[in-house]
Amino acid sequence: MTGELSPIDKAKFVAARRAVDFVEDGMRVGLGTGSTAAWMVRCLGELVRDEGLRIKGVPTSTRTAQLAREVGIDVVSLDEAKWLDLTIDGADEFDADLCLIKGGGGALLQEKIVATASDQMIVIADVAKEVGQLGGFPLPVEVIPFGWQTTKALIEETLVSVDVLGRDTSLRMNRDAPFVTDEGNYIVDLHLHRIGNPRQLALILNQIPGVVENGLFIDICDIVVIGHGDGRVEVRDINQGTVEEERIDLLENDNLFADM
Ligand code: A5P
Repeated sequence: MTGELSPIDKAKFVAARRAVDFVEDGMRVGLGTGSTAAWMVRCLGELVRDEGLRIKGVPTSTRTAQLAREVGIDVVSLDEAKWLDLTIDGADEFDADLCLIKGGGGALLQEKIVATASDQMIVIADVAKEVGQLGGFPLPVEVIPFGWQTTKALIEETLVSVDVLGRDTSLRMNRDAPFVTDEGNYIVDLHLHRIGNPRQLALILNQIPGVVENGLFIDICDIVVIGHGDGRVEVRDINQGTVEEERIDLLENDNLFADM
C-alpha cells in the first residue's frame, strides 16, 4: 500500500514516524494540525493501540481532535493538561534558525498557544518546506471579523515600513464566504515573498487592533524532523546543535496504511 503513496506523502510519513520516537509514556502531547501532523496522530494511535503507550493529547483543531479520538488517543483540553511535555506539528516553511510560517490550514492560533505551552516543540516537515528566507508561503494573520477590512488596511499600511518584497494581502475564502477559524475569526494572507526580519514583523503585526495572532513562530521550535521521499529522515536540534540522519523502512503491510 505504501507504494501508492506519493513521494511527498512518504516524506511526511517518515518525518512523523521518526518524531513519535520522542514521545514517552505518561507524556502530555500537543497534537498539531495538517496533513503531516495527521500522520503523526495516526502513528501515535498505533503506539497507543499496539504498545500500550499512555499519553494525553491536546489537539490544536477540531479536525485533529476528531482524528485523535478515532485512533484511540486520550484527548484532553489544554486547560486540563495545563502544561505539555512536547508538541509535534507541521509547518508551511522553516528556516535555518527554525523560525516558521504556520497557519496554511488555518489553525495557527491554537497551534501557537499549544506550542508555547510546551517544554519542547518538534516540527515535522517534508524537505520542500525548508527555505533560505521565510515569506514564499503567504503569511496567515488571524483577525476578528469585526472591522476586518479596516484591520486589513492597517496591516497593509504597516507593511510599507517593513523589509518585505511583496505587500499584497487577501482575505482567505472558503468557496464564496470568508474562511472561518475554529475561534470564529477570519484569516488575512500576506503575500510577502521574502520576509527580511521575521522577528520584527511578528511583533509589529500583533500590535494592530483586530489582529489576534500571526503565523510566524519565532524561538518556539526546538527540533525539526525532515522527511525525504526515499525514507531518509534528518533530525536537527537547534539547542544541541546536532544533526542526525537515518532511514525509515516503509513496510508494505504497515497497519497505518490498511484503511487507506
Ligand atoms: C495548520 O494550520 C498549519 O500550520 C499546518 O501545520 C501547516 O499548514 C502544515 O500543513 P501540512 O502538513 O498539511 O503541509
